[in-house]
Amino acid sequence: MVKEQNSKSCSSIKEEDHEELNKETLEKQLQALPRENGWDGASLYLYKGFWCPSFAIRGVISSQTHFKAHEADIVLATIPKSATTWLKALIFSIVNRNRYKPEDNPLLKASPHDLVRFLEIDHYLNGAPDQNLDQLPQPRIFATHLPYASLPPSIKESKCRIVYACRNPLDNFVSFWHFVQMLEREDMQNILPIDEAYEKYCHGYYGYGPFWDHILGFWNMSLKEPEKVLFMKYEDLKGDVITQLKMLANFLGFSFTVEEEEGGTIEEIANLCSFENLKNLEANQKSSRRNNFGAPMNSFFRKGEVGDYVNHLTPSMVENMKKLIEEKLAGSDLIFEASSIIPKK
Ligand code: A3P
Repeated sequence: MVKEQNSKSCSSIKEEDHEELNKETLEKQLQALPRENGWDGASLYLYKGFWCPSFAIRGVISSQTHFKAHEADIVLATIPKSATTWLKALIFSIVNRNRYKPEDNPLLKASPHDLVRFLEIDHYLNGAPDQNLDQLPQPRIFATHLPYASLPPSIKESKCRIVYACRNPLDNFVSFWHFVQMLEREDMQNILPIDEAYEKYCHGYYGYGPFWDHILGFWNMSLKEPEKVLFMKYEDLKGDVITQLKMLANFLGFSFTVEEEEGGTIEEIANLCSFENLKNLEANQKSSRRNNFGAPMNSFFRKGEVGDYVNHLTPSMVENMKKLIEEKLAGSDLIFEASSIIPKK
C-alpha cells in the first residue's frame, strides 16, 4: 500500500516536473518569437507566419499538438469579425434541425459561442481540453481563427469539412476596431485611435493577421479541394442567405429535402439566425458575461451591415486599403464587391 502511494507520488512529481519543463521550453520559444503590440497594447507573437494574440498562443500550440479530428467533424474557420457568430448559428441549425422542435432550439437560450466553441481559445485555452471532446454531440462542430497553414494536422489530413468565411477587409477592420473597444483583459492597455489601428491593420498587426495570407490560404485550398473547404463571404450571405444556406447544407452533407424546401425550413433557419433575431435574444444581450478573451456576449452584434466602413474611414484610408487589397490578392480572382462603395465624406 505504502509502496503504491510512493510510486504514485513519484510519478505525479515526474509529471509536474515534465510539465514545468515543457512550460519552460515553451516560454523560451515564445521569447525568441518576433513581437508587436496589438491595438489594445497586448502582445502579438509572430508565430508560423501569423500574428497570434499572446492570450491565445498556448491554446494554439496545444490544439495543434493534441487535437484529433474525426471524419464527421465540421470546422468553421474565420478571421475574427467575419461572420463567425452568424455561421456558428447557421451551421448549428442546419445539422441539428431534426433534433429540436423550433421552440426548443438551444439558440433561443444560449449564445452561438456557447454552442460552437473555439478550439484554441476555448477547448485548449489552458492546455488540455476542457472536456472530453469525444462526447460532444455528432457531428462535432468546432470554430477556429487559425490560418489554414497552422490548422492542427489531423484537420487537414482527415476527411472532416472546413467552412471558411471572410469579409471585405474594409468592413472587417471597422468591425474589429469597434469590437476591441468592448474587450477587457488583464493584458490590455490603452486602445489605439482608429487611424493608428488602421496603420497596424494594413501591416497585418492584429490577431490572426494579415488578412491576405489568411484569406488566400483558405481560398487556394477551396479551389484545390472543393469538397474539403467551402469558401464563403459575409457579403454573399447578406445578399442571398437562402441560396447560401442551401449551398452550405449541401457541402455539409445535410442537404434540404424537397419537403423541407417547400415547407419553409430554410427560411425558418435564416430567420432564427438573422442579425435582428439573434441580437435581441437575452443570451446575446448580456454585457456582464465575458468570454475567455474578455468579450462581453453583446459585443458580437453591432450593426450587421455591408459597407459601414464609409461611416468610419476617410476617402484616402479607403483608397489605400483598396490598393492594398488589390495588390495582396492579385492573381487570385478573388474580389470583394463591397469594397467599391465610395465614402461620401
Ligand atoms: P459589425 O461589427 O459590422 O456589425 P464575428 O461574428 O466574426 O465576430 O463578426 C461580428 C460581425 O458580424 C459584427 O459586424 C456583427 O454585427 C455581425 N453579425 C453577428 N451576427 C450576425 C448575423 N446573425 N447576421 C449578420 N451579421 C452578424
